[in-house]
Order: sequence, then C-alpha cells, then structure tokens
Amino acid sequence: MHVKTKTTAASAAKTDLLVLVISGDAKSLAFPDGYTDAAKAARSAGDVPTDFRATCSLYPAGNANSKRLLLVSAGDAPTTERLRQVAAIAVQHAKKVKAKDCVLGLDDSLLDACKHLEDVHIGRAIGEGIVLGAYTYVAPSGKKRDPAATKSVLVAAGAGKLRAGIAHGLDDGALRGASTCYARDLANRAGNLITPTKLAAEAKKLSGPSIRYKALTEAQMDKLGMGSLLSVSRGSSEEARMIVLEYTPKASGGATSRRGTKKGKQQTLLVVGKGLTFDAGGISLKPSASMDEMRYDKCGGVAVLGLFHAIQSGAVTPKHRVIGVVPASENLPDGNANKPGDIVTACNGTTIEVLNTDAEGRLILCDALAWAIKTYKPDACVDLATLTGACIVALGHELSGAMGNDQKLIDEVIDAGRRADDPCWQLPLLDVHKEQMKGTYADLKNINSPKDGNGSTAGGAFLSYFVGDTPWVHLDIAGTAWNQKAKDYYQSGGSGAGVRVLIEWVGSR
Ligand code: BES
Ligand code: ZN
Ligand code: ZN
Repeated sequence: MHVKTKTTAASAAKTDLLVLVISGDAKSLAFPDGYTDAAKAARSAGDVPTDFRATCSLYPAGNANSKRLLLVSAGDAPTTERLRQVAAIAVQHAKKVKAKDCVLGLDDSLLDACKHLEDVHIGRAIGEGIVLGAYTYVAPSGKKRDPAATKSVLVAAGAGKLRAGIAHGLDDGALRGASTCYARDLANRAGNLITPTKLAAEAKKLSGPSIRYKALTEAQMDKLGMGSLLSVSRGSSEEARMIVLEYTPKASGGATSRRGTKKGKQQTLLVVGKGLTFDAGGISLKPSASMDEMRYDKCGGVAVLGLFHAIQSGAVTPKHRVIGVVPASENLPDGNANKPGDIVTACNGTTIEVLNTDAEGRLILCDALAWAIKTYKPDACVDLATLTGACIVALGHELSGAMGNDQKLIDEVIDAGRRADDPCWQLPLLDVHKEQMKGTYADLKNINSPKDGNGSTAGGAFLSYFVGDTPWVHLDIAGTAWNQKAKDYYQSGGSGAGVRVLIEWVGSR
C-alpha cells in the first residue's frame, strides 16, 4: 500500500473513492462538485455521521471527480488512536468497493478538533492506519497480492493545502506501519514455513551497512554452555538459532542529548524476543484445540525483527547502538525432549528444574538474556515474549504486561507504548515472586506452585535472575500478539504488537 500526499484539496483529485474524515457535526463541510443534491438529502435525513466510526456513502449526480464519496466520523474528540482507526475504516471501504485508488481528505472540522495534537502525530497515526488497515497476509509461496486491491491512498486536506507536519507524519507512519506488517507476515506463517533456521534467514535479509547479522548454531551455543535453551530444542529435529542483529549509528562518538545542549554518552540498548517458532508444550503437551495458534509464540522475536526492519527502512534512526537478540527454537515432545523434573544448566551456571516443559519461553530467554548482557553490556534491556496465558487472564487482549527491575525504565517503556498506541500495563515484580522460583533440587524451578496463583509475574521473576543489575523491562505480549477477530486496523492473526513500542522507545531514548 502506497501512501502519498497531495497539497491541493482532496476534492480536486480524480478517484474511484473520496473519503472525507470529519468531526463533530461538520456544519462547514463543503461537499465536492456533483454531490450537492446527495449532500442535501443526507443532511435532511440526519445521515451525516457524527458518532465515532459512523459512515455514510454518497453518489454524485452529474460531473464529479470521484465515483463515490464516503463520510467517516472521527467523533467529537479525536485521538491518535481514533485517527488510526478511521484511516483503516477508509481503506477497508476502498477494498470493499474494489476502488483501485482512494483519496483521503482531512476536513477542516477534523483538523480543528485535532488542535491538541501535534501535526506529525496526526499524520503518523493516519499513515499507520492506512497501511495497517490495508494489510492482508500473503503466503511466501510467491503468489502476488490481490491485483484488484487498492494500491494507493492519496491524503490531502479537505480544503486548502496539507500542512507540512502532517505530510511528514504520514510518510513516517506509512514506514512504521510497513514494519508492523512485516512482523505480521512473519507471525502468521505456520510452524513449518518458519523454523528457527528460516527465521534466521529472514533476519539476515535485514542486514546492511549499519546492521550486522549473525546467528549462533547449536554447536556454538553448546560451547557457551546454553544448556537451558538447548534442552528445549532437543525435543525437535529442527536446529535452534540465537539470532543477533547489531545496529551501529553512523555518526558514532557521542550523541547529542535530547535537550541538545551537551553530548550524551552513546548507549547500548538490548532488545530480546522469544522466537519459539512452534510451541506444542513438549512432554507437558498442550491440548490440541487451537494448538496451531502456537505459531504465534515467535511474536516477541518477530517484534525485534520488526524494529530492525524499521531501522533498515529509515522509519526510525536510533542515536544509540541497538542489539537485537532472538533465541529461536521449537518446543516439541520427543524421546530427547525435556522431562518434568529434569535439571538443566544455563550459561551463567544457574541450574533449573524443568517442572513443566511448557514453560519453555523462560528457558530459552534466560540463556539469551544472560549471554547478551555479558557480551554486549547494555545500558538498558527490553525483552518481549508470548510468555504466559496468565497475562491474558490479567490484562485481556488490549494490553501487554510490563514488569522489570528499574521503575524509570518501566515508565519509559510504558510511556513509549502510550505514545505509539501499542499499550502496556505494569504488573508487579515482588521479592515474594522471586522467592517462589527457587528450586528444591536446583537453584531455580521454571514454574511456581499452582497454589501461588500468580502466573505472569512468576515468569518475570524467573527472568529477573538472569539480568543482574542491568535496567530491564519484560513485556509479556501473550494477549496482544495476535487477534481472534478483526477490528479496525487489526486483522485476525498476528498484530505486530511490540513493534511500535520498540520503535518509539529506541527512537526517543
Ligand atoms: N507460549 C505459552 C504462553 C501462551 C499461552 C501464549 C497462551 C499465548 C497464549 C508458554 O510457553 C506457556 O505455555 N506458558 C505456560 C506457563 C505455565 C506452564 C506456567 C502457560 O501459560 O500455561
Ligand atoms: Zn509453552
Ligand atoms: Zn511458549
């Protein structure tokens, strides 16, 4: 989907579909030529939409630049999230009516109601909404996207010139949206289409002048003592990989601080994502209903790749060095698989009782975190993982769970998620949770007692043993990584959750 901007008024463009986004009662709305009668009828019938998401279709009589007009309301109080949603409604309508192209006009009533928002944020939200709303999964079989689909959306002001800040934001949002769609495509691929080695091959494609790629093989991980990760992979005939992407900013030697006064020290930011390409649960086998959804267990890793896609495309240009690490493995039952009670040793020497082989995410992440922190000595670390079903019980599908060891960093990440409308909600990480993870026959166990009652925070507490003093935030994206139902700019399937949090976080740090 191409998002283009146009400086002349929306109604001047020839198009299959003109969409005007309005707010409030849009009394001052000047209907384009050809729509005078239709507009009068719509006004007198009270059909000009005022409620958020409401729409009205109109057809011209006589000469008009557009074949049809859709009015869509952003409601009385537009937010960036609402703008993203109405932009998605517009492109989905274009798809429904098989419009080859579409012009999206931002009416004055909308721009007046958006005075509390910065222009770049208005544009960004709309750009993202267009690209995300138009997304459809295409299998990697080489089959092309639907040739009848809308190929481009031209965004213009309803009247007058589109403001430069909005136009800039639109380009930015289209790029961010494309990186989120890239993550969705990878997320949606079935377990046999994306194995750990295939995920590594995808990551390699992101390398370039400023991004270096490498992937540790099982033999290399064995030498590094990653017995925890390898114990998960042992039940699978597919080889595990530790994928590493390393971004180095062009002008190194100290970035200017955000206030622009003194030079700040260049930092190293570490992002780690769970890349379980398929989680059957291992010997603690999952029930078969909906087991295919465990293709989404790689979504933390896919979000990390989404961030590097955004860096590669220029959607974000971090000031700091960014290291992306994706431990990738399958979790299957097999004669070599972990058995409940087995004791494994992580690369930092910590021993772990595997009491439930389905709590495997933490077993691969602990080696990834301990190794990457020791190797890259980051100033801050964020990990993302579809770690616990319990996070869905706690927060549903709208919010990712955030926990960590450094309140300042937790606030920073949650704030980045709020600005990106990719929201996260803090869960506690208490000493008592850490205590719960102490083992009987080893240093730690990979699950707490069912009597404890807490699930997500147990996962977070387990991981906390592998990050030392490094400021660290763990995002549990089990509830947000994919959707059962389509809504606004989400289709059913992979959502790309976490990509926009990461872009916003590394971009603002
Ligand atoms: N990948 C799952 C978590 C998950 C479950 C994500 C449902 C999304 C939807 C993870 O590996 C897992 O199985 N976790 C267990 C942990 C338990 C054994 C302590 C869970 O949540 O049941
Ligand atoms: Zn599992
Ligand atoms: Zn899992």
